[in-house]
Amino acid sequence: GSSRARELAVRGAGLRTAPPGANMRDTMHVAGQQRNHVLWLATRSLRAICQCTPAGAAGATEDATAEPRKIRRVLIHFAMEAEGMPLLAELDTLRKDEAGLPNLPALCYSGTYRGLDVVVVMNGQHPIYGVTSVGTTAAAVTAYAAVRRFEPDLLLNAGTAGGFKHRGGAIGDVYVSTSVVMHDRRIPIPGFEEYEKGRLATFVPDGLLKVQSGWKEGIVTTSNSLDYTPEDEIRMRDSGASVKEMEAAAIADVAHQCGVAFMALKVITDIVDGDRPTQDEFTENLGTAAASLQKAVPMALGFIAASHG
Ligand code: ADE
Repeated sequence: GSSRARELAVRGAGLRTAPPGANMRDTMHVAGQQRNHVLWLATRSLRAICQCTPAGAAGATEDATAEPRKIRRVLIHFAMEAEGMPLLAELDTLRKDEAGLPNLPALCYSGTYRGLDVVVVMNGQHPIYGVTSVGTTAAAVTAYAAVRRFEPDLLLNAGTAGGFKHRGGAIGDVYVSTSVVMHDRRIPIPGFEEYEKGRLATFVPDGLLKVQSGWKEGIVTTSNSLDYTPEDEIRMRDSGASVKEMEAAAIADVAHQCGVAFMALKVITDIVDGDRPTQDEFTENLGTAAASLQKAVPMALGFIAASHG
């Protein structure tokens, strides 16, 4: 254990260096940060080696993602502009935030709605591949940068998703997440059983499903693929998921690590266990689902403003 800790300490020490022109105080501050970082890395790796958890982490599914304080600022995160632009036509007092997020192609819009500060962020176009950045990497970096910049009380991931007919799902359904989980992260090493699933409880505003009686609640399962493997299928079924998409569990992880409440609001474009190719159904229904989100997101915001604002 100790040589591993030393190795991490050496690597950690190289992570931050004082910028050119830094004065003595800055240098001492950076040195202090380095020491803290080294200690943090060493503690974390020792915990991982011992497979023990810090006090409070045992109930990892009952956490900050599910329990917001008073909600004054909501960050709404869409992966795709095709999903989010209709909402911006509806919330037409929101203005483009030209600064955006550092080093990211993300698009940001901000303003107020029903007394809430509202920020809408979309991942934007990938700088190399020139298509919308979907999946967990873009979702996590965008969510992290947006949470750091805007410091929301609630992170709401809105978007489209696949539904399951064996759980009563149909195209056009609106789902609020109860928890999120991953179905394609496989790490067959003792101690990683729970981490690979990454299940996190999410915030369901009390009474929202009574007011929006047509909406459903369910478990949202995330992977980096629009399709799925036979192993994914088993994992999705075992997890109890009603909704399949490509970002929620990654964004919820960021929210949890930043101590921000999280909820997902997803509209169904395709039936995962149906008989049509997902990509065909998805493409056909993306427009109507985005139009549905255009109405559903303001309804959720209105409810949150009244109950938690
Ligand atoms: N987004 C919309 N439908 C999806 C599906 N079936 N899987 C993953 N992401 C989706």
